[in-house]
Amino acid sequence: MQIIIGISGASGAVYGIKLLEKIQKIPEIQSHLVISRAARITISQETDYSFKEIEALADYYHNYDNIASPIASGSYLVDAMIIAPCSTKTLAEIANGITPNILSRAADVILKERKKLILMLRETPLHLGHIENMLKVTKIGGIIAPPVPAFYNKPKNMEEMIDYTVVRILDSIGIHIESDKRWQ
Ligand SMILES: Cc1cc2nc3c(=O)[nH]c(=O)nc-3n(C[C@H](O)[C@H](O)[C@H](O)COP(=O)(O)O)c2cc1C
Repeated sequence: MQIIIGISGASGAVYGIKLLEKIQKIPEIQSHLVISRAARITISQETDYSFKEIEALADYYHNYDNIASPIASGSYLVDAMIIAPCSTKTLAEIANGITPNILSRAADVILKERKKLILMLRETPLHLGHIENMLKVTKIGGIIAPPVPAFYNKPKNMEEMIDYTVVRILDSIGIHIESDKRWQ
């Protein structure tokens, strides 16, 4: 299985990083990573990870500006893509088919190839433009999955909250990780 993880410049770069860490432990899955320019700012602001450490978590790293990267083509076979977190700007690009970088281009390809695209959109509150873009993406086959924490499993700390959100996101692309936090 080949999965693309995109990290855009919304708050919550840690979600993309934790997804990469989980996928790294599953030998049958290969990960492809794209980091937007704005995400380099949020990563520095919000986490203690270096870019090198994050890039090393993925099997393949694709430069944001490399529009000739393999994942720009539907002929390069990948199974799903998760943008974690997804900014309203990247959402707008995907919703409107504007693809000037490899993040939105790869997402556009995933949709045209009828594969799974998950957008962990992070913004609040939302204006009608954001909501219309979410509707557009949903109509063309994407899944809007904001990183909203669950409380039914009584998370003890932020780590547990993030971990369970990531587990549930992976469920949506058919990767089921054992977790004692699932509702019984
Ligand atoms: C610290 C920080 C936090 C941000 N948080 C958000 C956010 O939660 N949601 C969002 O849509 N944009 C957020 N932004 C703004 C985006 O980074 C900005 O719109 C950027 O152009 C997005 O580009 P990208 O989608 O190519 O990564 C944030 C910016 C910074 C610097």
